[in-house]
Amino acid sequence: MRLNVPYTDERELEEIAKVLSTGYFTQGPKTVEFEWKVAEYIGCKYAFAMSSCTTALHLSLVVLDVKPGDEVLVADFTFPATANVVVQLGAIPVLVDIDLDTFTVNVDDLRHKITPKTKAIIPVDAFGCAADFDAIQKIAAAHNLPVIEDAATAIGTKYYDRFCGNLTTLGCFSFHPRKVITTGEGGMITTNDDKLAERIKLLRSHGGVRTGSWYRFEEAGFNYRLSDILSAIGVAQMEKLAKLIEHKQRLAASLSKRLAQIPGIRVPVEPKWGGHIYQSYVILLDEGLNRDTIVEKMRVHGIETTLGTYALHDQPFFQRTFGYKSGQLPNSHAAFTRTITLPLYPQMDESDLDQVADTLNAIL
Ligand SMILES: Cc1ncc(COP(=O)(O)O)c(C=O)c1O
Repeated sequence: MRLNVPYTDERELEEIAKVLSTGYFTQGPKTVEFEWKVAEYIGCKYAFAMSSCTTALHLSLVVLDVKPGDEVLVADFTFPATANVVVQLGAIPVLVDIDLDTFTVNVDDLRHKITPKTKAIIPVDAFGCAADFDAIQKIAAAHNLPVIEDAATAIGTKYYDRFCGNLTTLGCFSFHPRKVITTGEGGMITTNDDKLAERIKLLRSHGGVRTGSWYRFEEAGFNYRLSDILSAIGVAQMEKLAKLIEHKQRLAASLSKRLAQIPGIRVPVEPKWGGHIYQSYVILLDEGLNRDTIVEKMRVHGIETTLGTYALHDQPFFQRTFGYKSGQLPNSHAAFTRTITLPLYPQMDESDLDQVADTLNAIL
């Protein structure tokens, strides 16, 4: 059993065929359609398709004028891209511990790590669960700091009644195949800020402004565009998003019911603000259980699982460059060493869930 399988059908092929028939393969009208669908869905003013969430995060920092030596607060339990983009600008990622229930940033640690050098905050939505944005925005407002939401895993996630990506200064989504909807590779920046939107649009495509037949290059920009061929997949995937989320939420509830009986594990926690879309279904093992052995035994039984995600302060680069020590952020370290992602995707049925639960139970 695979860990995740993207959900596609004839609609993706139809949309791709339309793009191929136009001969217009780079960023064009299909990308505008994809952006419009995302902006409408989450209720924000602007959405800009990007080549990945990594480039979305990088460009977000650029338009916020993050410079060498600036500090950017980053939730520690995340894929390294969240902090790598800070490093690429010569700025300093200040790693912040998480809460073990939601796996999102701990707001007390966040507050304590703000200094006069802090230039921005990057909270991370974990596995499709929103961070506590009321608390985060309160801290940000008190210090007049912009917030970039790393919503890589959270397209369609809600924080109370509002969608992720529409909660802070800038939101960044990923459409990597491990996400609920995918374009193969791809990302999106969302915002309601007119000025930032203008700069994103300019810098995403070489810094050029079209004047008549030519471009005038106003800034040294990037090529962070998404091809219309990939946006075609995005358009078809957006039509499915609400149903895919509903289905994943039903499967997650069903799996949690089975796993709740098994000692030694904690099933995912629905936060008080709700809205978890279970991009990944991640369990936390009790201390003393060997995660790696369990993952290996699941593999031997034909079930692909993996760790939750990474504690950045435990990674060699961040230790070597910024002097972090393993375990310095205790909750993130615990999550890094004690989580397992189990298979959960709409193509699974109740008998697959039985197989996952029974196998895990037998191994434990
Ligand atoms: C939390 C988080 N941020 C950023 C990224 C990077 O996304 P992408 O692969 O689209 O660049 C990922 C990818 O897995 C992620 O999980």
